[in-house]
Amino acid sequence: MAKKKPVTVVNRLVVIGLGLIGSSLAASVRNNGLAKEVIGISRRQSTLEIALNNGIVDRCVDDLSQVAQELEQGDIVVIGVPTLSVPSVLQECVEQISAEVTLTDVASVKESVVNSAIELFGAVPPQLVPGHPIAGSEKSGVTAANPELFVDHRVILTPVETTAKSHLERATKLWQSVGALVSSMDVQEHDQILAATSHLPHFLAYSLVDTLAGMNEKTDIFRYAAGGFRDFTRIAASDPIMWRDIAIANKNAVIDVMDKMMDNLTALRASIEAEDKQALTQLFIRSREARNHFGSMLESNKTDTGLQSPMNEKIINYIVSPGGNARGDLRVPGDKSMSHRSIMLGSLADGMTEVTGFLEGEDSLATLQAFRDMGVEIEGPNEGRVVIRGVGLHGLQAPKKPLYLGNSGTSIRLLSGLLAGQAFDVELQGDASLSGRPMGRVANPLREMGAVIETEKDGTPPLRIKGGRKLKGINYTMPMASAQVKSCVLLAGLYAEGETSTVEPAPTRDHTERMLRGFGYKVDSDNDKASLSGGGRLTATRINVPADISSSAFFMVAAAIVPGSDITLRHVGVNPTRVGVINILRQMGANIELFNRAQVGDEPVADIRVRYSPLKGIAIPEDQVPLAIDEFPVLFIAAACAEGTTVLTGAEELRVKESDRIQSMADGLVTLGVDAVATDDGIRIQGGEIGSGEVESFDDHRIAMAFSIAGLRASGPITIKEANNVATSFPNFISLARQVGINIKLA
Ligand code: S3P
Repeated sequence: MAKKKPVTVVNRLVVIGLGLIGSSLAASVRNNGLAKEVIGISRRQSTLEIALNNGIVDRCVDDLSQVAQELEQGDIVVIGVPTLSVPSVLQECVEQISAEVTLTDVASVKESVVNSAIELFGAVPPQLVPGHPIAGSEKSGVTAANPELFVDHRVILTPVETTAKSHLERATKLWQSVGALVSSMDVQEHDQILAATSHLPHFLAYSLVDTLAGMNEKTDIFRYAAGGFRDFTRIAASDPIMWRDIAIANKNAVIDVMDKMMDNLTALRASIEAEDKQALTQLFIRSREARNHFGSMLESNKTDTGLQSPMNEKIINYIVSPGGNARGDLRVPGDKSMSHRSIMLGSLADGMTEVTGFLEGEDSLATLQAFRDMGVEIEGPNEGRVVIRGVGLHGLQAPKKPLYLGNSGTSIRLLSGLLAGQAFDVELQGDASLSGRPMGRVANPLREMGAVIETEKDGTPPLRIKGGRKLKGINYTMPMASAQVKSCVLLAGLYAEGETSTVEPAPTRDHTERMLRGFGYKVDSDNDKASLSGGGRLTATRINVPADISSSAFFMVAAAIVPGSDITLRHVGVNPTRVGVINILRQMGANIELFNRAQVGDEPVADIRVRYSPLKGIAIPEDQVPLAIDEFPVLFIAAACAEGTTVLTGAEELRVKESDRIQSMADGLVTLGVDAVATDDGIRIQGGEIGSGEVESFDDHRIAMAFSIAGLRASGPITIKEANNVATSFPNFISLARQVGINIKLA
């Protein structure tokens, strides 16, 4: 930040209360020349002196009335006092300063601020933008001021209906200019999340230290405390007044989560007393795995799986520079479709299933967590190894809360089938993208089978499934070629009376059928029809998940479009229902060789070598569409590099993926100067030069990765915005991309 040319983002910044947050904000704004003047207000003379001497503010006053009249539009007043003092300061502000001036606060609890504003003024004044920077430290006061405190930290704004857009924009700009990642949230949601992830841990730390200090009659037990104690109680050194205020201001949400904690502690105490080894191991494994998952999410700055707080999520953009090459020998992570299914069937089997090659991406981890939430003991993943103690087809337990499936369509659709036949009710939820995807396609056949399942009015998640329903087998003719729909119906069929069968309009991936057979379940496949009978059982097995052909596709295209390239991809799953990308690229003239063919478990694998050769545009045969359904974003990049026109038809399903992949790709390609025209069911792309520019990922992993590959042939750098979701399917994409010579970096 210091290197950037200063740009004024606010006229005057007034900070009332020069605690850690207030003084750090003032210091950052002043250091970076972001305001014409920074004014500090504190009743303590000593604080004002330090603020002036340390260059934190330009000017100091000890009362708002001394500057209130001067303030005008473009100025911003930040209330940086402890939570319970906010209302009185807010009252002074609203009474003394013009409604044109933006007002914001930094209190850790938002409902109390909003409620006090309503009490004082009848409604939240439009100029007030309630806010909360998640950037605390156990240090406090003006002497701890740190101008870098907010860099890469979240600031949550909780605007209400009456908050004016102009004021919200000004507050957002201010926080962004000091390096913060600003997001917006509902007031209650903010307070509940913070109660669980911040307030409760602080109170536990205070309480633990207090308990031990109270026991400390004869010896100084703290002298023997090891690193664990220090780590756990670090936050008990935080500002007592601030935490007193937070406890009271967020009373209800805190008590709620504290009660849950106390129940959990009581159960733990009972398990210890009863020397219940199984209960103790289960609890410790469950939390260790959740913690490891949480830790790795934090490391990769990706936290949105519902397990953790989104507080530290950092937005990741990619920048790809041209001139890279594509050479090397690599193995991409495990197949996503098979990874999901291995957890589902392993959990429902009798006995212990060992999975190797499991994809440690967020989507498959969401499935894994869902089964943990339903009481299944699952160890790992540890370098792709997962051990599942299956509970049998009828051994799942009701989850305590809705199952959160993140971005994963496969998880929600397959689970809806499995769960329709359980004895308990369950709700399935997902992130913003998943919450907009069609679920009628699974709810309809399940209802025909006798399931009771509710969606939102427009057929989107959350899904609410009633337990205890008797399902009956159906013969379902699918209206679209979808492996998720087929799998959902077949999995419900495990619980249905009689035979369940599906008839598909075109062949789709058949991993469910193959893996069910691997677990010893009889499934008949006859051309377009798959059928099974309910009432059987699954027997635990070993599963070796091959490398994902969908992830490999990015490197296949990379090698196909860059002269001099030569890439070998190892141990790739080449199930005939997945090789559309190879067929299409070959038809375009790509040089692709498959060797070391083998059968691993129920799936064929091979090594794939791709070398550069010039591509030509083609009309993509419609029968290849379901076989390459996930590979089109990167195939469109191949088309943009080919000579002539490529036309895709019959691919309307692409419009309901993680994003509308026809539109997302068409928009990005056009931004990069490529002649691409979206049609209802496909796209027409004229091969030519790829320019440089900034493209959106639309929160879709495959769009982000496809444009990363485009960077190899672009005339200048391509920036890909918000590529965080790459972690859903390909967590080490960047490092493998660099390994083969692609100039890609995070920004
Ligand atoms: C999948 C099926 C496909 C695919 C998705 C994974 C699966 O979805 O796009 O990424 O694992 O069954 P549809 O069934 O919607 O085509």
